[in-house]
Amino acid sequence: MIRRTRHVPQIASSEITPETVWLNRRNLIKAAAAGTMATTLPTLASQTPDLKPLSYVPGECDGCAAEEALTPLEDATSYNNFYEFGTDKSDPAEYAHNMTIDPWSVEVSGLVNKPGKLNLEDVLSGFDLEERVYRFRCVEAWSMVVPWIGFPLADLLQRFEPTADARYVAFKTLYRPKEMRGTRSFTSVIDWPYREGLRLDEAMHPLTLMAVGLYGKTLPNQNGAPLRLVVPWKYGFKSIKSIVSIELTDQQPKTSWQELAAQEYGFFSNVNPEVDHPRWSQRYERRLPSSLFKPNRVPTQLFNGYADQVASLYTGMDLKKYY
Ligand code: MTE
Repeated sequence: MIRRTRHVPQIASSEITPETVWLNRRNLIKAAAAGTMATTLPTLASQTPDLKPLSYVPGECDGCAAEEALTPLEDATSYNNFYEFGTDKSDPAEYAHNMTIDPWSVEVSGLVNKPGKLNLEDVLSGFDLEERVYRFRCVEAWSMVVPWIGFPLADLLQRFEPTADARYVAFKTLYRPKEMRGTRSFTSVIDWPYREGLRLDEAMHPLTLMAVGLYGKTLPNQNGAPLRLVVPWKYGFKSIKSIVSIELTDQQPKTSWQELAAQEYGFFSNVNPEVDHPRWSQRYERRLPSSLFKPNRVPTQLFNGYADQVASLYTGMDLKKYY
């Protein structure tokens, strides 16, 4: 049975409930009860007959700041970065539906005792899903608060038994130019497929999530369907979307953004207000939704506010050097 829990490290879900979120949640529950989830949440529903509403009751969380209300679903799914579909924020919502996500499988290879493939069905039925509300901070200095549904990446990696030599994890996104207009563009600067990487201890950290849904729904294509990484203490570009390959290595993997501009985008890319991007400050962020008249500017926190949980991963490291 899939356990569906709410896990809210540091940040509380919300004091303000965007109506759409609540409605979506209610629809999810209704659909689960009626057994009509095939089109939206095929496996989640069949596995969760006892699905209970996850409440976003105002006042439920003591001391949560008003600015940490959930970002409305509409903003999280229409203001995206997914360069495979173009570089405008609206491109992923407009074009990512062209990506075929069924069938889907993820290859796990490299320094593991049991290399193999996971089909999406195995992913959805084989791991305990949880809902986690995380801050999400893009290197471009905007941020959101998103309720993800997923499971710890560690659970997946452990299944393949990393060997004692494994020190890093390298990820790749699907590369299917026919369906991804951004990869065919003459102005495209990325050497596809999109690649990212983590140190093994970062990958195994309990906060590191493989997400398969958000706001109680399966991941929309523009957010990285059918499964993506979410590393809440790092800049958003580390949270690679639509993953097809996971390789355990003993060498630090090359990542797309580092290859493109290493002086701007480091391998670690931990959120840090003290380390400016060479072209802009990282001291503040625009919490979406934000506008010219209501910029919703909030101070950026070290490790995006998750320092208590993750700072020990970097003990003794010069965070300005290893940005
Ligand atoms: N993954 C792939 N494959 N391609 C991308 O262009 N963009 C990254 C990251 N993952 C990106 C990606 C960046 S820059 C950010 S900020 C986040 O996805 C955005 O996630 P969101 O659109 O769900 O907010």
